[in-house]
Amino acid sequence: MRARLLAGLFISLLATQSWAAEENSAAPFPVGDAEAGAGKAAVCGACHGLDGNSVDPQYPKLAGQSAAYTSRHLELYKSGERENAIMAGFSAALSSDDMHDIGAYFAGQTALTGVADETLVEAGQALYRGGDENRGIPACLACHGPGGGGNPLVPYPALSGQHANYSADMLRRYRDGAVYGEGANAAVMADVAKQLTDQEIDALASYLEGLHAR
Ligand code: HEC
Ligand code: HEC
Repeated sequence: MRARLLAGLFISLLATQSWAAEENSAAPFPVGDAEAGAGKAAVCGACHGLDGNSVDPQYPKLAGQSAAYTSRHLELYKSGERENAIMAGFSAALSSDDMHDIGAYFAGQTALTGVADETLVEAGQALYRGGDENRGIPACLACHGPGGGGNPLVPYPALSGQHANYSADMLRRYRDGAVYGEGANAAVMADVAKQLTDQEIDALASYLEGLHAR
């Protein structure tokens, strides 16, 4: 478990460094056309909000999410590797290019942050920033960034501003062993969340909703 987490951190560092070194070279994945994506994303707006800031918390916010993360998960819904009846339907007709365009569109939007529960924020912040070494829980900021903006190149998803119930739901699924798709990065969260208690998950999720970064 430690080895896999360390590998993840290492990849994260590598990605950051190569980005700095090769600022002008092509990104390591296809870059979509945000303008074309705006039109293609109109149908998504009914649930996710036209600018990716869903009002109803049962639908995750997509605003400010990295394009690579959004397009990867659209592929996973389409292939059925991530199971969800609604999203299977909305991804079925999308081509790979559509997914990259839509990803680019939402990446260019700004996530509106919510308000963290004051009784939970301190515990959430401590775990987010420091992890818990004795229990093998890594600091979340190592991958998701101090402000929850993620790392678009790996991609490590942005988390700031997300509806708390959605983040908590995802963390419980990962704790139950959910792995979407393949590769070391896909399996990382099942390791991370394994030891989290319900209370810790709720505290982290609430903290994230109030975090301003993306
Ligand atoms: C009828 C409502 C609805 C519509 C329309 C819809 N979605 Fe979703 N979407 C959902 C729900 C519900 C989820 C959470 C599914 C789950 O738990 O896996 C979701 C999840 C997602 C996720 C995963 C986000 C994350 O952070 O994990 C992405 C990406 C996504 N939708 C993109 C889209 C795109 C792009 C469109 C338009 C082509 C779209 N959705 C249209 C309801 C909808
Ligand atoms: C080693 C890197 C790493 C660390 C450390 C890490 N994460 Fe993640 N996290 C990821 C990756 C990679 C994904 C995307 C996994 C996937 O595609 O299913 C992710 C996904 C998530 C998601 C789902 C986002 C969404 O939009 O659906 C949440 C919530 C999350 N992480 C919270 C946390 C919390 C809380 C911690 C600290 C306890 C943490 N992560 C620590 C790499 C990491």
